[in-house]
Amino acid sequence: MTAAPPSRHTARYSPDNAASAPDGRLFSPVFARNFPPVLAALVPWLAGCRGAVLEIGCGTGQHAAGFALAFPGLAWWPSDPDGGHRASARAWAAELRAPERAPIALDAGEDWAALPGVRALGPLRAVLSMNVIHIAPPAVMRGIVAGSASVLAPDGLLIFYGPFLEEGQPTAPGNAAFDAGLRADNPDWGLREVGTLRRLAGEHGLTLAAQVAMPANNQLILFRKPA
Ligand SMILES: C[S@@+](CC[C@H](N)C(=O)[O-])C[C@H]1O[C@@H](n2cnc3c(N)ncnc32)[C@H](O)[C@@H]1O
Repeated sequence: MTAAPPSRHTARYSPDNAASAPDGRLFSPVFARNFPPVLAALVPWLAGCRGAVLEIGCGTGQHAAGFALAFPGLAWWPSDPDGGHRASARAWAAELRAPERAPIALDAGEDWAALPGVRALGPLRAVLSMNVIHIAPPAVMRGIVAGSASVLAPDGLLIFYGPFLEEGQPTAPGNAAFDAGLRADNPDWGLREVGTLRRLAGEHGLTLAAQVAMPANNQLILFRKPA
């Protein structure tokens, strides 16, 4: 029997498919490209804020460590269902001398808002999820929105970053190919439509605060819980 070819899309980093260090740090090949513009786009929304932020699907944890240093007034909590990712996030925080916050084991397709480790954080200033909802089943997008509506503080933000589809608008060729490749790897994966996300957020009482075009056909989409 022939083994299935490995996926071309990385949902899970490990020393087998990503650069790594002996202390458990994993290196995302796109971190260096994504981090500076995402940080710059988040500054107007998060600089000077206080409270706790939950990052869902932190991957290697490089973003979480960088954001924790960039926003010292915020307690930045990484989370991921993958133990190797959580170990990497912890190791990156130690390496960069970012505040160490034990990454939370969290599957966004489940009732994560009820987890004791999440409830202990109190009402959240923001929930951020980067590059997760297209490489996970739709239940994960629904879970992130529903859970965030429950855990966000009044005026809190739910923030998504990644590639999206726009109803009635042509898709950039790179994103169309990416979407087709994701769906070929897993029929439950694929770029999500902004309109679908917006309607879902509205059903949970969250309103669109901003939609920011980012490099490489990505977007930063921010929803707000009413004050
Ligand atoms: C493409 S990686 C993105 C990692 C990181 N956010 C970044 O932008 O570099 C997708 C991440 O989604 C996480 N993920 C997959 N399914 C998930 C789920 N059900 N709940 C939460 N995170 C999930 C994976 O473990 C992985 O860390």
